[in-house]
Amino acid sequence: MAPPPASTHSSVTLDINGDKHTLTVDHRTTLLDALRERLDLTGTKKGCDQGQCGACTVLLDGRRVVACLQLAVAAEGRAITTVEGLAEGDQLHPVQQAFLDLDGYQCGYCTPGQICSAVAVIEEHAAGWPSAVTDDVRPEAVPPPLTDDEIRERMSGNLCRCAAYVSIVQAVSRAAAVRTETREHSASRERSATTEHAATTERPAATAAKRAVA
Ligand code: FES
Ligand code: FES
Repeated sequence: MAPPPASTHSSVTLDINGDKHTLTVDHRTTLLDALRERLDLTGTKKGCDQGQCGACTVLLDGRRVVACLQLAVAAEGRAITTVEGLAEGDQLHPVQQAFLDLDGYQCGYCTPGQICSAVAVIEEHAAGWPSAVTDDVRPEAVPPPLTDDEIRERMSGNLCRCAAYVSIVQAVSRAAAVRTETREHSASRERSATTEHAATTERPAATAAKRAVA
């Protein structure tokens, strides 16, 4: 069979989980098919293949997208994060750990998409983005707490045929709390380090001033 005309294919370099992958793809290839069929990154699942179920959710520059509706050629130059890229070595991402601890899955087919979506949900909420159930959406309003209703609404694009929803909501809530604790802990450590640094740099100056007076 004659090879396809060159104009229907392009070489793209995809930045996936920090690694660059160069491949030639038909322009109609979705990011989902490029990940699964060409790069063997099968953590991202294909459910409906038409943007309805969320099983194929990945992060593009930190924002969630359904990879079945994203062309691979349009993802060039973006930072793509799949479920395979969330852990740091043996250390699971807090969302993965919470799903594991709280049984946020049954068959697990929707889980990679749920987890990627939850990672983005927690950041969207922390950045003050309102959802459809947020009461006060004025820019000056205090961001709402991440209640179960907020989580349900924000995760509503991710379907679970096993209906593990109760545990999924608990897992997202737990991971959000862990994120807040971690940030507060880091901020407090930074404050202590700054205070310590100020104290150690002030002491010699004060001593020198005392000597000058004497
Ligand atoms: S497979 Fe992409 S949304 Fe269902
Ligand atoms: S855990 Fe089976 S589809 Fe969600």
